[in-house]
Amino acid sequence: MSPGSGYIDAAYFLPAIGAPGGFLVLQGWYSAHGPPHRAVTARLRLDGREIRFPCEDPRPDVAAADPRLSPRAGFDVALRLAAAPAEARVTVEFLAAGSPCETIETAIADPVWEVEARAGFLPPLRLRKLRNLILNERERLSHATAVTALPVTGQIDPSFGCNLRCPMCQSHMIREQGYRLPNLKLDQLRAILDRYGDTLVRIWLSLWGEPLLNKQLAEAVRLCKAHDIWVLISTNMSVRLDDAAIAALVASGLDTIVLSLDGATQATYQEYRREGDLALALENIRRIVAAKRRTGSATPHLFWRYLEFPWNRHEIEAARALAAEVGVDEFGVEPGVLMDQQTYSLAPRGQARAEPVAPALLDAWRSRAAVRAGQHRYFGCDYLYSAISINSNGLVHPCCYVVAPGDAVGKADAPVARLRNAPPLRAARAAFAAVAEGKDGPVRAHAPCASCPVIESCEGHVVTQTSFRQLFDHLVYGTGIRW
Ligand SMILES: C[S@@+](CC[C@H](N)C(=O)[O-])C[C@H]1O[C@@H](n2cnc3c(N)ncnc32)[C@H](O)[C@@H]1O
Repeated sequence: MSPGSGYIDAAYFLPAIGAPGGFLVLQGWYSAHGPPHRAVTARLRLDGREIRFPCEDPRPDVAAADPRLSPRAGFDVALRLAAAPAEARVTVEFLAAGSPCETIETAIADPVWEVEARAGFLPPLRLRKLRNLILNERERLSHATAVTALPVTGQIDPSFGCNLRCPMCQSHMIREQGYRLPNLKLDQLRAILDRYGDTLVRIWLSLWGEPLLNKQLAEAVRLCKAHDIWVLISTNMSVRLDDAAIAALVASGLDTIVLSLDGATQATYQEYRREGDLALALENIRRIVAAKRRTGSATPHLFWRYLEFPWNRHEIEAARALAAEVGVDEFGVEPGVLMDQQTYSLAPRGQARAEPVAPALLDAWRSRAAVRAGQHRYFGCDYLYSAISINSNGLVHPCCYVVAPGDAVGKADAPVARLRNAPPLRAARAAFAAVAEGKDGPVRAHAPCASCPVIESCEGHVVTQTSFRQLFDHLVYGTGIRW
């Protein structure tokens, strides 16, 4: 019996920005056969150095495919090289509990060359998106402070308003204070797409409110699809929809609907989804499934995302069965975040000046960065490079975690280069770069990044939320995008 199994999903080299050399990115998994699972380390030689990294990132897909494999078998490393690799292939040796168990050799891809070699065959819009995607990834890996690439993904909120009152939802906490915004208008969306549509690869047409409350949602999806963007929404589905609305949503080309339902009975479901009507949501799902069948449409892909909380754990299997019964394509369970009730300030947060990051928080960032550097993993906020979050009133926020109105960094119709390099965004990129590079001394950033709890307390945007490889493969080979 083989002592383990593994695979290198991706190996590619991207040149750095503003410096010689670049980054060899390796992604994949290796698991010793278990249980009990032994710690697996990968080892390779590059530039005369021996580089080691652990194989311990979550890979539930691996464990689901074969129960002998560890659910924490993944790796995703970016190795800084002084020059492009001399060899066209890389050999990775895997060690389980210190003993060599297998060696995998793979070719090193060159995405820049791949794209340019296909330039004559790719549709011009895809080519433009690919060139921007590569530049974006090079700027991110290089920790550039000022960027020239445009966002490749993001969220645009059709409706900040919501029909539910989920107690630990940040935007609910803000709405509780009386904050209201108008729905996004199609002309606003057209202006956004004029600027960003030809470089965006994926967009969520949902963010902090309930997207189905915007009656122009299907038309908004169509506008995005005209720019060849992969479009998803997340919705509670607990909204009355007439037949025309259901038909329009299915016909719009919408790629994926994430269904926010966390219970199999009304009593359990409404513990969190207050004001929600489970029967109505399920009926809407059945009608969408029927409309898909009637029109022979494979989309939208329906993914039921069950947030697991202490009060709804016992209904997971019943919900899984219900999902199959109503015809959703996929069912998944994710941990719900038990957030404290917070009071968000509706006042501007003094973004005019960069402030020193508080020493305790900076220490937390630094220790996290040091661990990741030792593992050859990226540290920094990928959101500041690859994404854009736009509220329903057209204000742009630094990320999808910061919803308070004072956190906005500009308007979506501002000149692109100015908005992308707004002082708070440049300062935040520089702050994370300084920490990633192990620089001493104080670090300055603007609110809200100067107090970013996501970087401190959980993986959040420290890990890459947007898979370059997934978006690249979609644009080149037409493969689907998850999220
Ligand atoms: C704020 S909602 C807005 C979109 C839409 N109204 C919906 O319900 O999907 C965006 C996402 O946040 C998730 N969410 C809400 N509260 C959460 C919590 N406490 N922990 C984790 N995710 C949460 C929702 O399930 C949803 O997928």
